Amino acid sequence: MLDLTPDRGDLDPIEIASVDEIRGLQLQRLKWSLRHAYENVPLYKARFDAAGVHPDDVQDLADLAKLPFTTKADLRDAYPFGLFAVPRERIIRLHASSGTTGKPTVVGYTQTDIDNWADLVARSLRASGLRRGDMVHNAYGYGLFTGGLGAHYGIERLGATVVPMSGGQTERQVSLIEDFRPHGIMVTPSYILNILEQYVRMGLDPRASSLQVGVFGAEPWTDAMRREVEAAFDMHAVDIYGLSEIMGPGVASECVETKDGPVVWEDHFLPEIIDPDTGDVLPDGALGELVLTTLTKEGLPMVRYRTRDLTRLLPGTARSMRRMAKITGRSDDMIILRGVNVFPSQIEEQMLTVEALAPYYQIELFREGQMDAMRIHVELLPTHSGAEHRRACTDILVTRVKEIVGISAEVAVGDPGSVERSQGKARRVVDNREKR
Ligand code: DLL
Repeated sequence: MLDLTPDRGDLDPIEIASVDEIRGLQLQRLKWSLRHAYENVPLYKARFDAAGVHPDDVQDLADLAKLPFTTKADLRDAYPFGLFAVPRERIIRLHASSGTTGKPTVVGYTQTDIDNWADLVARSLRASGLRRGDMVHNAYGYGLFTGGLGAHYGIERLGATVVPMSGGQTERQVSLIEDFRPHGIMVTPSYILNILEQYVRMGLDPRASSLQVGVFGAEPWTDAMRREVEAAFDMHAVDIYGLSEIMGPGVASECVETKDGPVVWEDHFLPEIIDPDTGDVLPDGALGELVLTTLTKEGLPMVRYRTRDLTRLLPGTARSMRRMAKITGRSDDMIILRGVNVFPSQIEEQMLTVEALAPYYQIELFREGQMDAMRIHVELLPTHSGAEHRRACTDILVTRVKEIVGISAEVAVGDPGSVERSQGKARRVVDNREKR
């Protein structure tokens, strides 16, 4: 793989400013953001007043802990535009999350918000090793999802050539990558596996592709998956994090020279880690729920938004700003099986250690008598078919999941192609518990 470390002179000065300078900027911006939210969004005014705090009471970053949290339910209750802090006419773009239950959550951006977002995605891409003049294939879905358009504007802002492919049409994805020869690809980690499979199906060598770096996010993925994808394509695989409520892709992004977790772009977002049960702020390094406060958002300022994502805050390395550890999972995705907490990423880690298995999996939950049970669906690599491999893989995975993850799960090893393929965000868990 090529050394893609960016020149320090190409970085935004704030990325490598002193921590004191960053904290100073954060405090100044936080004061603005809180006042903006308080004066323009009735919900914030009511919540702050009820908690007995006024934006002027915040004189220090630690004072943030006095303020109430904001949740997805608040956004849903205010559907569609109730939390916007500017008149609707100043909003130049809307996005929305599909929302599995009830109404979607709608987010809105002013021109300044869109500009900042493009800048931050461009900064993220630079951190990934891409630069002006490169070409980037964008396979994040375009539309109400923030992935496609968020990435698109950032690629343009970097001064790179964007290929606005969107998701789906996997064969066409491969043809365009082969014909246009992009340097980078932006896509979910589960969908790159689909593209990888298509390469093999078309008799092409993915290692010979033009791709030098993949910028993967929108769903959890493990370091084991990073190694798998890097080896398959002979390219760097870096992590980009974000969520629509806060902005979209580019809230945090990983540096190619360290690959040690996404750097939170702290000049625009203030991260905290809390205990999800008590709401108490935890010290850096502790595992808990990520809470984000926007510092510059005009359209939809967010004060202490509970992301439900579980991670830790780590000290800066390649940049002065803090990093977040790769996300273990969302608290909503945590499976509690016979008293043990399990995340799909833990299963992913183990299945990727079994050589004869393809990198696709899905977890099925079902009821066995009074007990909850788990079945892990995986499949053999086409090169390893046969009853013997199937038996061996089953035994190895059952043992590793038992010994390392600490749960007894069934393993179903299917034929190549039997596990559902992702077109964007993968569906890792199928819950059949209520149906039985
Ligand atoms: O997924 C924004 C995005 C698009 C990020 C493209 C990166 C790349 P939402 O649809 O609102 O926005 O989903 C946000 O996805 O709270 C996390 O649970 C999860 N997520 C996003 N990025 C990562 C990541 C976009 N790098 C939700 N690792 C978030 C793990 C991620 N989970």
